Amino acid sequence: MTDRVYIFDTTLRDGEQSPGASMNTAEKLRLAVQLEKLGVDVLEAGFPAASEGDFEAVSAIAAKLQRTQVAGLCRTGKADIDRAWQAVKHARNPKIHTFIATSDIHLKYKLKMDRDQVVAAATEAVKYAKSLTDQVEFSAEDASRSDRDYLCKVFGAAIAAGATVINLPDTVGYAIPSEFAELARYVLDHTPDMHRAILSVHCHNDLGLATANTLAAIAAGARQAEVTVNGIGERAGNTSLEEVVMALRTRSNCLPMTTGIHTEQIYPTSRLVSMITGMIVQPNKAIVGANAFAHEAGIHQDGVLKNPMTYEIMQPEAIGLNANKLVLGKHSGRHALRDRLRDLGYDLSDEELNIVFTKFKELADKKKHVVDEDLEVVVTEGILRTTEYFKLEYLHVSAGTTVMPMASVELSINGRKVRGADWGNGPIDSAYNTIAKLTGTSSELLRFTVSALSGGTDAQGEVTVRLRENGLVALGRGTDPDIITASAKAYINGLNRLEYLKAHPVHASQQTV
Ligand code: KIV
Ligand code: ZN
Repeated sequence: MTDRVYIFDTTLRDGEQSPGASMNTAEKLRLAVQLEKLGVDVLEAGFPAASEGDFEAVSAIAAKLQRTQVAGLCRTGKADIDRAWQAVKHARNPKIHTFIATSDIHLKYKLKMDRDQVVAAATEAVKYAKSLTDQVEFSAEDASRSDRDYLCKVFGAAIAAGATVINLPDTVGYAIPSEFAELARYVLDHTPDMHRAILSVHCHNDLGLATANTLAAIAAGARQAEVTVNGIGERAGNTSLEEVVMALRTRSNCLPMTTGIHTEQIYPTSRLVSMITGMIVQPNKAIVGANAFAHEAGIHQDGVLKNPMTYEIMQPEAIGLNANKLVLGKHSGRHALRDRLRDLGYDLSDEELNIVFTKFKELADKKKHVVDEDLEVVVTEGILRTTEYFKLEYLHVSAGTTVMPMASVELSINGRKVRGADWGNGPIDSAYNTIAKLTGTSSELLRFTVSALSGGTDAQGEVTVRLRENGLVALGRGTDPDIITASAKAYINGLNRLEYLKAHPVHASQQTV
């Protein structure tokens, strides 16, 4: 048994199934490049049969990545497998990941198939996938609620048909660590020819146990962990990549296994995921939360100053925090900007650099020190957001203790300029009312959060909103030194994402797994 644990990243597939976290192809591509830099072994790029958009994104990622295995998810039907193969076949290292449910409840109510039919479907699917590529993973959806001996039978059939990885998902986040470890051991001991495949685990976080279950299964012999950055994913999310990787690294005395992850890329990757999806990381989130390395109590601060190991089990530098904080300002030139962006992992074309440089100069005029977090925003807002149906051109608000809050706004809608004004309960409310009127939208504001992007009094405000319109939910993010403008940008970004969802309906109701 090897001591190497393979990291299978599904941020772009299961992660994208977080309500409102849909990404466009440019955003997915950018994230895929960063995930390769992070060192994931397998990148599940999407579910090509789910939509044209998914197919296009998976194909683009397959063509772009140099080292990482690129997997496409599919059900067991031939058409699904063909679609996945068409999307990944140009990858240097393509993989097909096929799945079918094995629990009685799924067989009876969802699939309307009996156990033998599922064994036959799994066998046929893996055989067919294997005729297309060597690397085939088979997953038994809802494995943790399946009959164990039947599960081993299905896994044995998949291995006989050529599967190289067998995945044990806790699809509904129901398992507890001791039980899940025992299940992993049972599968390893009772699946025919299990030594010919790697056992993978895929946990959901409904009971907050995804990382614990994953680590328990690894201790029991699983050698692949399916994870997402920041733990994003269906419902309460998936196992978080950073937690598993840093637990293995920090507690190697108990879990003597290694991964291929370059841990100093964890923090930049977490930031990028948060920025692209608009899903903020909770401050007390393990490893990547804003407070994860912040010591508040005086006794703790004193101890850390004397020796960081008194209260720190990991160094912040190990995840890429505090490393090389270089500040740019309004006198910094194009070369300095290009170099810094390269260090951050952005290799821009001349045309892209021009766009970013202009936005950087605009920001540097308003803000003395432009830090890495600012640059990432400039790149994501300047380049990755390809579809902007609505764009903020102008915003003026008047508010205070004695005046009625009022906003005047100019937007361009598909290139056409429109102007309007409205009242509200406060400056943000009046801006939102005006924008809603101008765009003819009627979304409901489910959540509104504001935070500072970096430290210091001149930090940019970062606003995240969650909008719902006709059953579709989208997140929006906006940053600006002025928080009213940041709020307007976040709202408009959310409206743009709703437009994207309207045009790509499957993202809204990923009824796939
Ligand atoms: O949670 C799940 O069961 C899945 C499978 C497709 C692996 O996401
Ligand atoms: Zn899942």
